[in-house]
Amino acid sequence: MSIIVPDFPASRLRRNRRDDFSRRLVRESSLSVDDFIYPVFVQEGKGILQPIPSMPGIVRYSPDTLMSVAEECVKLGIPVLALFPSIENDKKTPDGIEATRPDGLIPRVVRQLKTAFPELGILCDVALDPYTSHGQDGIIDDTGYVLNDETLAMLCQQALVQAEAGADYVAPSDMMDGRIGKIRQALEDNHFIYTRIMAYSAKYASAFYGPFRDAVGSSGNLGKSNKMTYQIDPANRYEALREVAADIKEGADLVMVKPGMPYLDILRDVKDEFKMPTYAYQVSGEYAMIKAASQNGWLDHDKVMMESLLAFKRAGADGILTYFAIDAAKLLKHV
Ligand code: PBG
Repeated sequence: MSIIVPDFPASRLRRNRRDDFSRRLVRESSLSVDDFIYPVFVQEGKGILQPIPSMPGIVRYSPDTLMSVAEECVKLGIPVLALFPSIENDKKTPDGIEATRPDGLIPRVVRQLKTAFPELGILCDVALDPYTSHGQDGIIDDTGYVLNDETLAMLCQQALVQAEAGADYVAPSDMMDGRIGKIRQALEDNHFIYTRIMAYSAKYASAFYGPFRDAVGSSGNLGKSNKMTYQIDPANRYEALREVAADIKEGADLVMVKPGMPYLDILRDVKDEFKMPTYAYQVSGEYAMIKAASQNGWLDHDKVMMESLLAFKRAGADGILTYFAIDAAKLLKHV
């Protein structure tokens, strides 16, 4: 890029900044409700709106109460809802087999949502952590190491059950090697040729997922162990590009970078390098930080929320998974 700036005063960059109309005219990126994917937590039961203390304003829904949120998304024009289950502890096992049950919580909720709101896109996370008694994303050996190839078979089953229930997107967030290719093959073999794969491609071993693990109830099970043997080391940049390249080659339709705000450099790299539909996940810890600071009166909630979301667009995102989706959509639509 060669940027030519005439000498002052021929160039006064403040000219375009002077008025609202001239600022609007030169604005390089913008936010719209079309950019949002809204992640929601769901648990068994009826009439449940269970607050998650580390995520102010976010609750766990039961299938019935989730319907009104879905309706709100449709009304606001939010394109896609992402589902995350909170599973009862007595259903969790070392192999997470509950994830593959066709009549499990997620497949039932997908069927219910697609019947009531066929125009709302539904995305399902593919990973075993909400279902395992140890809180890891896959099957472990005696030492606690997550076994790659044994886990792949489970992930394929989980994705098939979701596709069969009507999920529009399956989104593997497990970071096993080769999972996109295996899942794509399983979908094709079973004639789910239109099920899209949104790959959590550049997913880092981040401490920003803490509140999410409270929400799906995996933090207690995970205890002091971590996910460093499969998620990317936060120190690495080029490794993320290799992960994205592999996922595209294996059949991903969309790729994702996660977390969001601390990884905008990676987002820009990925968009520039691959020109794919590219998404950022503004994760639970990022949401919690903004909420906590604004509850203390230290930050202006709405302004910081919108600035953080716009920054993803500027950095190259085609869309954002964000717990702010409803709040931001309301602001954008003045409702
Ligand atoms: C499950 C998964 C996680 C998130 C999305 N899918 C947690 C993890 O990998 O431990 C995090 C989302 C968030 O923090 O908002 N594999």
